[in-house]
Amino acid sequence: MTSRILGIETSCDETSAAVLHLEHGTPTLDSLVILSQDIHRVFGGVVPELASREHLRTIGPVVDRALEEAGTTLEQLDGIAVTAGPGLIGALLVGLMYGKGLAFGLGKPLIGVHHLEGHLFAPWLEQPDLAPPFIALLVSGGHTLLLDVEAWGRYRLLGETLDDAAGEAFDKVGTLLGLSYPAGAALERLASQGRPGRFDFPRPMLRDGYAFSFSGLKTAVLRAVRASPNLEADQADLARDFQDAVIEVLVEKTARAVEELGRETAVIGGGVACNRALAKALAERLTGVARVVVASNRLNTDNAAMIAAAGAWRLDRGERSGLELEPFDSGPLPGLDSRRS
Ligand code: KG4
Ligand code: ZN
Repeated sequence: MTSRILGIETSCDETSAAVLHLEHGTPTLDSLVILSQDIHRVFGGVVPELASREHLRTIGPVVDRALEEAGTTLEQLDGIAVTAGPGLIGALLVGLMYGKGLAFGLGKPLIGVHHLEGHLFAPWLEQPDLAPPFIALLVSGGHTLLLDVEAWGRYRLLGETLDDAAGEAFDKVGTLLGLSYPAGAALERLASQGRPGRFDFPRPMLRDGYAFSFSGLKTAVLRAVRASPNLEADQADLARDFQDAVIEVLVEKTARAVEELGRETAVIGGGVACNRALAKALAERLTGVARVVVASNRLNTDNAAMIAAAGAWRLDRGERSGLELEPFDSGPLPGLDSRRS
């Protein structure tokens, strides 16, 4: 049986729409349109009110374009999946109201999707044989979670960050080094030119359970930046040692979870999963132990294809959201068991 799903994502500063179809449970992406809002660069971070206004201005054309590229009409859709949270409330509302309007007007099923569950489903679009159980490291600008995915829809929280998210740490350290927001990709490029081992940065909570903490590391970089007599000359080495510290902590905890729980697959998702040095380090650490699965960059950063994927899976098992669906803020993933091991 084939079903064709429209996905909508407006939780932060990307206005995105995608069409995918499921055939006997296997997904195929028919289109993906992502419009990144440039305006926030001027302010060094996302300005919520501006994000909402930009989404309002562009959501219609972005959805139309996704349908056109997929060669699909609204009437041919079998369902609408929209990010319901967490995210910026005004930004979420734009996509949610648009999705609800379409679902109501067309008489099609609607499903609200948790943004992080979207990130979790992204690699499945490119590797449809990906199946739980697996360990997932979700690292984005707003979250850092280590999950044991027992089944799709059944998640056990192993650990999360106690302060900054991993992506947030990249962005803040990037700002200290004079890079523009969001700084993750530029910092990775800079780090690739740096020499390792010049700065002795901490590896916070390295052997300490599954929780993360990045604010002390950020402060250590700040001190080193202030102490540098020539920041331009030290910039790449600072980036390198900061990135090495973050990666060592992320890799160590993910690999330990894989080994302790005996999982054969590890998935990295979210914007920070674009970091090739992270994926490479985890794959090396888990050689002969587990397969490491990472989506391509376009599907790791915020996009509607991952929302359509998670939504298609939920719609396929008969779930529906009512039109009373409201944006939820930082609620847990659906199916999350937060008892830590
Ligand atoms: O998942 P995402 O697109 O948005 C959120 O849901 O937050 O993640 C964005 C985050 C930003 O903090 C950005 O700096 C980071 O992902 N990021 C990276 C890289 N590319 C994006 N961090 C490290 N290395 C990268 N190559
Ligand atoms: Zn995200």
